[in-house]
Amino acid sequence: MPEPIVSLVDVAKSYHRGQQAVPVLARISLDIAEGEFLALMGPSGSGKSTLLNLIAGLDRPDSGRIHVAGEDIVGLSEAQLADWRARHIGFIFQFYNLMPVLTAQENVELPLLLTGLSARARRDRAELLLQLVGLSDRSDHRPSELSGGQQQRVAIARALVTDPTLIVADEPTGDLDRESAADILALLQRLNRDLNKTVVMVTHDTRAAQAAHAIMHLDKGELQAASGPELVASCQLPVVREICAASGGGNIADN
Ligand SMILES: Nc1ncnc2c1ncn2[C@@H]1O[C@H](COP(=O)(O)OP(=O)(O)OP(=O)(O)O)[C@@H](O)[C@H]1O
Ligand SMILES: [Mg+2]
Repeated sequence: MPEPIVSLVDVAKSYHRGQQAVPVLARISLDIAEGEFLALMGPSGSGKSTLLNLIAGLDRPDSGRIHVAGEDIVGLSEAQLADWRARHIGFIFQFYNLMPVLTAQENVELPLLLTGLSARARRDRAELLLQLVGLSDRSDHRPSELSGGQQQRVAIARALVTDPTLIVADEPTGDLDRESAADILALLQRLNRDLNKTVVMVTHDTRAAQAAHAIMHLDKGELQAASGPELVASCQLPVVREICAASGGGNIADN
C-alpha cells in the first residue's frame, strides 16, 4: 500500500488556561491516502479545527506523531514548519481571509511572494488560477466588490496557487447560501478528481459532507468513521460510488 499522505499516531492535544488544562484530542490516529476527499464532522467545540490545524502544521500536538507529505512535522522548527506549510498546504477558511485592500489577482498572488518567481510569472500564475475557479472577469475586483461565493473561489485560487500537496478547508461553505455552497463543493470535488488533490474538509453540514469520499466524526476527543445513512448517502453520489465500492463502504481509517 502506498504511504498515506497524512498519518497521525496517538496524537493528543490540550489547551492550557492558567493552571487549567482543557483536553481536546485524546490519542487520535488517522491515515489519509493521497487523492482522498475526507469530511470531518462533529459537534461545536469537539476539536475539528484543532485537528485540522495540527494536520496543516499551524499548531503542535502535546504528544504523538504527525507525518504529512513525507515529513515528520512535529520535529520541525518554526521556520522549517513555515517553509513546509508554504510548499505543501493550501488552507481555506470559513470567512475567506482575503486582504481587503488587494484585488482578487493580488490576493491570489500573495503566497507566491515567498517563492523566487518573477512578477510576470506570478501574475500569469494567478490569472491561470482565477480562470480555473471561473473568475477571470473579476481579477481587478477587491473582496468588497465580490459575492461571498466569489470571495471563497478567490480564496481557493489562492490556496492552490503554490500547487500544494494537501488542501485543508475549515467550514468552507459555512458562510454561504445553498447555491454558492454547492458551487464551492463542486469546485473542491473537481480539484480532487481532476487534479488529484487530497482534501480534508471540516463541515457542520451533512449535505456538504456528502461531497466527500468518506466522513469521519470527532466527538469527546475521539475520531470515528461515519456509518449508517450519512455514509450510504455519500456513497450514492456518482462521483464517489466507485471509490466507496473499492474501499468497502468509504471507511478510509485504519483504526
Ligand atoms: N486557544 C485556545 N485556548 C483554550 N482553549 C481553546 C483554544 N482554542 C480552542 N479551545 C477549546 O478547544 C476546544 C476545541 O476547539 P475547536 O476550535 O477545535 O472546536 P471545533 O470542533 O472546531 O468547533 P466549531 O465547530 O465550533 O468550530 C473547544 O472547547 C475550545 O473552547
Ligand atoms: Mg472549528
